[in-house]
Amino acid sequence: MVRPIDYAEGKIVIIDQRRLPTEKVITEIKDHRQMIDAIKTLAVRGAPALGIAGGFGCYLASKEIIDIEELRKAMKDIAAARPTAVNLAWAVERFYPLLEKDHRTDAFLKEALFIQRDDIKRCENIGLNGRGLIPEGANVLTHCNAGSLATGDHGTALSPIFFSHSAGKKLHVWVDETRPLLQGARLTSWELSEKGIPNTVICDNMAGSLMAAGKVDLVIIGADRIAANGDTANKIGSYPLSVLAKYHHIPFYVAAPLSTFDDKCPSGADIKIEIRREEEIRYSGDRQMVPENANVYNPAFDIVPVENITAFITEEGVRDGG
Ligand code: MRU
Repeated sequence: MVRPIDYAEGKIVIIDQRRLPTEKVITEIKDHRQMIDAIKTLAVRGAPALGIAGGFGCYLASKEIIDIEELRKAMKDIAAARPTAVNLAWAVERFYPLLEKDHRTDAFLKEALFIQRDDIKRCENIGLNGRGLIPEGANVLTHCNAGSLATGDHGTALSPIFFSHSAGKKLHVWVDETRPLLQGARLTSWELSEKGIPNTVICDNMAGSLMAAGKVDLVIIGADRIAANGDTANKIGSYPLSVLAKYHHIPFYVAAPLSTFDDKCPSGADIKIEIRREEEIRYSGDRQMVPENANVYNPAFDIVPVENITAFITEEGVRDGG
């Protein structure tokens, strides 16, 4: 199993996801500012994993800061480190009622560990509930990384794939590389290969021709925030994928724990989309890819309208989309 973030022998450690797939580097996160930096730079990423990181970030802040107002401010900074994935704000919210407690730091650690354990269980149940949707011999297409690295463990979109594979089902996964930061190519393909699951990385613009050729049986993606009407924010490129799937009559599933459903957000139009640094597009490694004077636009997520979603796979079962 691959846990992106863990608490061991009194230390918070993460797998630095910026270094995968060539190096698996485990880094200790020593204070809440370092956690904020890890979140902002995507050393730790993926909606449920961001919730867990937020929880451990609050714990670290409670060890560093005595003054309650200062601690509250640090917690706000943690919640604001990335705006789209609701799990981060959702997790930090759980710590406010603990601020006045005796032995506050112990209470914060207990809560952070609970959020982690709880997410692992939720993701396991997503896998068990979703595996029946994958037929024997299926070609499944996924986007970004919604595997163990993006959660406490097991993943969301990848969990039904992992559980199908471990039950002996034959399947193959098309992995969208996921421009610009290549979470699919670097992380999803790495996770699938570690488990011996056949997979093929494609550029994002190849999915349509594969669908037209009958080479995709279903699509499963994760989610960063699901609005009350079912509109779903996920990694940029999810929306066009959903349009293609609908056109080709291919089932399009969104796998997510209930902690990713935001009932306070009425529809996709109300979800804040994170705009990231231009450099992520301007450069590939050290190499400049875009002329100096060209404009660049880098939204990290898009919205899949509920009518393009066949069903949601959650820890409580499968519910219809639009
Ligand atoms: O920018 P990232 O890498 O944090 O984006 C992650 C995604 O969009 C995932 O698909 C989503 O968080 C689901 S994770 C289980």
